[in-house]
Amino acid sequence: MILKDIWLDVSAVKERDPAARSKLEVLLLYQGVHALIWHRFAHWFYQHRMFFIARFISQLARFFTLIEIHPGAQMGHGILIDHGCGVVIGETTVVGDNCTIYQGVTLGGVGLNKGKRHPTLGNNVTVGAGAKILGSFEVGDNCTIAANAVLLKPLESNVTAVGIPARAVKIDGVPLPKKESNLVTMDHYCKMEERVRDMEETLLKLQKELSSYREKEGAIQTEASPEERSEEEGNRE
Ligand SMILES: CC(C)(COP(=O)(O)OP(=O)(O)OC[C@H]1O[C@@H](n2cnc3c(N)ncnc32)[C@H](O)[C@@H]1OP(=O)(O)O)[C@@H](O)C(=O)NCCC(=O)NCCS
Repeated sequence: MILKDIWLDVSAVKERDPAARSKLEVLLLYQGVHALIWHRFAHWFYQHRMFFIARFISQLARFFTLIEIHPGAQMGHGILIDHGCGVVIGETTVVGDNCTIYQGVTLGGVGLNKGKRHPTLGNNVTVGAGAKILGSFEVGDNCTIAANAVLLKPLESNVTAVGIPARAVKIDGVPLPKKESNLVTMDHYCKMEERVRDMEETLLKLQKELSSYREKEGAIQTEASPEERSEEEGNRE
């Protein structure tokens, strides 16, 4: 069983990592695969209540791979831990089949309560570099959590979530309509600056037109004969 799991992990890396050249190379040189191999043994000891040995193996694996998977975590088949450095996976985490986990990911808990406190990932979930999924909730199949996102709530299947806190931006690959934000962003500021510039230009044009109109009016008045001027003044009165 453990050997089959290891073989599926190696195959997953060969299939999904474009940089992988051969299964032998993957087996010998990929630290994500090594971490999972160590974990398969540690998890066996954990299941048989030999917690010290289980923890010892997991710490050894952490020392060599920089990937920390608690021996209690339930890892599915065909998982790709790419690069892997800085990955932390908590005790009550469940990771489904064919998931991809990049470097710097934390599948962690919030608070100090015992019991189920870590996330459960469905199948084919991708967790981008540096993303954190914190708390005991489910992430549906085929979800993608963007690099550096912090996910604190459950996700339905086929959702792409980005940002801090992570929010859904796509469902089934279709972008969701954007909400109008009250925050003034750089984009808003640039548009405002453009409008102010337009208004200044229009104002300048109007000022020029007004002064040339006044000049013309003054010139007409000086050109007019004294009789015409007195007639005009009489009309005004
Ligand atoms: C989320 C991700 C998968 C992109 O998915 P996608 O379906 O191609 O989505 P898009 O690129 O169309 O992005 C959708 C929106 O999310 C935003 N977005 C994408 N990735 C983001 C991220 N990491 N953080 C914040 N916002 C992000 C985009 O800017 C876009 O917003 P907009 O519509 O306002 O422009 C990708 O950005 C990602 O983070 N992948 C992880 C890859 C990784 O960790 N690689 C490590 C290799 S070593």
